[in-house]
Amino acid sequence: MKYAVPVIPGDGIGHEIIAEGQKVLEAAADKHGFSIDWINYPLGAEHYLKTGELVNEETLRELKKYRAIYLGAIGDPRVEPGILEKGILLRMRFFFDQYINLRPVKLLEGVSTPLKDKRSSDIDFVVVRENTEDFYIGIGSRAKSGRSHADFEVKRALYTIKFGLDIESDSEEIGYQIGELSKEGCCRVIKYAFDLAMKRRKKVSSVDKANVLSDIYGLWREIFLDVAKNYSQVKHDFNFVDAITMWFVKNPEWFDVVVTPNMFGDIITDLGAIIQGGLGLAPGANLNPEGTSMFEPIHGSAPKYKGKNMINPIATIWAGAMLLEHLDQPSAAEDVVNAIERNLKEGKIRTYDLGGRSTTSEVGTEIARLVKTL
Ligand code: IPM
Ligand code: MN
Repeated sequence: MKYAVPVIPGDGIGHEIIAEGQKVLEAAADKHGFSIDWINYPLGAEHYLKTGELVNEETLRELKKYRAIYLGAIGDPRVEPGILEKGILLRMRFFFDQYINLRPVKLLEGVSTPLKDKRSSDIDFVVVRENTEDFYIGIGSRAKSGRSHADFEVKRALYTIKFGLDIESDSEEIGYQIGELSKEGCCRVIKYAFDLAMKRRKKVSSVDKANVLSDIYGLWREIFLDVAKNYSQVKHDFNFVDAITMWFVKNPEWFDVVVTPNMFGDIITDLGAIIQGGLGLAPGANLNPEGTSMFEPIHGSAPKYKGKNMINPIATIWAGAMLLEHLDQPSAAEDVVNAIERNLKEGKIRTYDLGGRSTTSEVGTEIARLVKTL
């Protein structure tokens, strides 16, 4: 069996971490009798600065032929913040309609958490972040005082929405951003969360801010309750986003599957990352179960560490395990996670963020070795 997998190393430390991910996935493939053909796509700051191009339609259509993309990190200080992130990363999430952003929050054995008295059995949940809507749709602008008009369009696989906005303002200048959730969009991601909970500890926690942003998140709540009706064995609860940040710290053991709109999901998963030992350990998967999915660490491109061979590759390697699982190689995926955990438990070969002195490539080589010998 042979899989073709596009790889986008991206910017900053992207090349260093993705190389270690590839090393470990190749070891797992070898052990389990399949192989991976990597197809390199040099998207990112370098390509943008040279050509003025972020990612073109043709590339996107080509990438759409594959089930899984392996991504390093996007973002570079030479380019104005947001250009690459929106033009490449969000563009791909939306183009491929990767409506689920799956982010496991699991404290592996051998890792210390900043939470006092919590152990690995206490921190083991999954955040299912909606990944195509909310305040991420890119609809907004600025308007100077007086009258003005703006037209916007949101094009998604599920729908097209047009907004026309007449503005009359006597403020010197305003900035505004429109968030939007759709019934179809909420329904599919909440269903995914309940299906996932059925395979786990059968509890789904919803995140919103329906007490204040009651139109957008009121819809979310209503749909959540509708979906919940079809899963009588699954317990559920509602959490306001401000409160859930507190519960993640105080009682992480309460959570099994957490389902959240896009923006709150972005925020709470950085908190999730730190309680599982740090950004260096937090993987993510952008999933379209029927199409092209994309696997990446949740951390960014950490430009100041570029070329230093010191960043922790584990988040990327773990994201690689999620990629293998997605390609229907669950035992290979399990081997990779076990090898990561063994490496962490042994505690000898680790990067500086975990108090060690080993390099990015030493950690990758060791985990690849463990995959083969476990
Ligand atoms: C993430 C990142 C992205 C996001 C940025 C880089 C666009 O923070 O994957 O969490 O906000 O989703
Ligand atoms: Mn983020």
